[in-house]
Amino acid sequence: MVFIDACLGKPTPYTPIWMMRQAGRYLPEYMEVRKEAGNFLNLCHAPKLAAEVTLQPVRRLGVDAAILFSDILVVPNEMGMELDFIKGEGPHFAHPIRTQANLDALDSDAAAKLTYVYETIKIVRQELAKDKALIGFTGSPWTLATYMIEGEGTKTYNICKREVYKNPEFVHAMLAKLTHVIKGYLERQIEAGVDAVMIFDSWAAALEEEVYFEFSWNYMVEIAEHIKAKYPKIPVMLFPKGIAGYLDNIYGNFDVFGVDWSTPMALAKEKLGDKYVLQGNMEPSRLYSREATTRGAKEIIDIMGKKGGHIFNLGHGMLPDFDPEDAKFLVDLVHNYSSR
Ligand code: CP3
Repeated sequence: MVFIDACLGKPTPYTPIWMMRQAGRYLPEYMEVRKEAGNFLNLCHAPKLAAEVTLQPVRRLGVDAAILFSDILVVPNEMGMELDFIKGEGPHFAHPIRTQANLDALDSDAAAKLTYVYETIKIVRQELAKDKALIGFTGSPWTLATYMIEGEGTKTYNICKREVYKNPEFVHAMLAKLTHVIKGYLERQIEAGVDAVMIFDSWAAALEEEVYFEFSWNYMVEIAEHIKAKYPKIPVMLFPKGIAGYLDNIYGNFDVFGVDWSTPMALAKEKLGDKYVLQGNMEPSRLYSREATTRGAKEIIDIMGKKGGHIFNLGHGMLPDFDPEDAKFLVDLVHNYSSR
């Protein structure tokens, strides 16, 4: 698999590409399946339908990897938190975790209950072409904790930051519990058939540097090292969004560092290119213009070179009003322009 070879730093005939949120609302075929499921969460819970939407972008775009269709928030959901996706507002937990007693009530064996995810993986791996990779994923402990403490998405993170500075032991207890669940969750995803795993730390940028390493990065590295010790051949990818200023202190045993669009690729290469394979990082909104896409993609490939050590991706997720034809244009461009 070209994608897996690239993750492990081996030479590849071209730069592989996939896109964060490549399955989703910009695809009319996704909207059809979601309608059949009734809503987004039902879709995550229905392995046959979730497998179908996992495969859609591979068929339509020709990307080198599929990413499991699910959501990071199914984990706290199975730990016992009632989850809703409210139209126009996003995710919502009816009962946020604010006390040690709330935390103690959460199930630390939740990984065993996410059977619909493992079932989805088995179906996808059967249907997916042998030369295409399947990526499994989880949210980072910190990013999951922000939703669990706040109860929803937040602009200020004021409740979870109050806890970080006022009750650090409580937050650490929560992060440790999540770390335990996530290790079991990724192990089971690998046993079910994923070829690589990715940890999304979407809300990394909420924390100042020292606090970031203490409350987020350390836990991601603990998970990565656990997986690498047990499954050395499975690439582990970390995506901390918005921490360009902290790159000097990045450490740990993992394979791929996901570069977000606010981090200049040349800077990421200079700081991390010798140690990790880099993934990224075209600003997704360039997809609104073919000219901007062409310039942006070529610039990134010129910086990263054609000798390997790079996986092309967007610097964050696809948006619902993108045109699938523009996404296909990018995939073909990257394959052709990077061809050795
Ligand atoms: O194609 C893929 O990337 C795989 C599927 C995937 C989804 N969510 C599907 C989804 C993945 C990898 C995620 C991860 C996820 N979920 C993250 C981390 C990655 C990132 O984007 O930073 C986060 C923070 C979430 C939490 C979440 N889920 C939010 C904030 C929302 C609502 C925002 C929105 O776009 O409406 C979701 C819902 C969600 N997850 C959708 C999809 C396709 C939209 C649901 C729909 O209405 O159909």
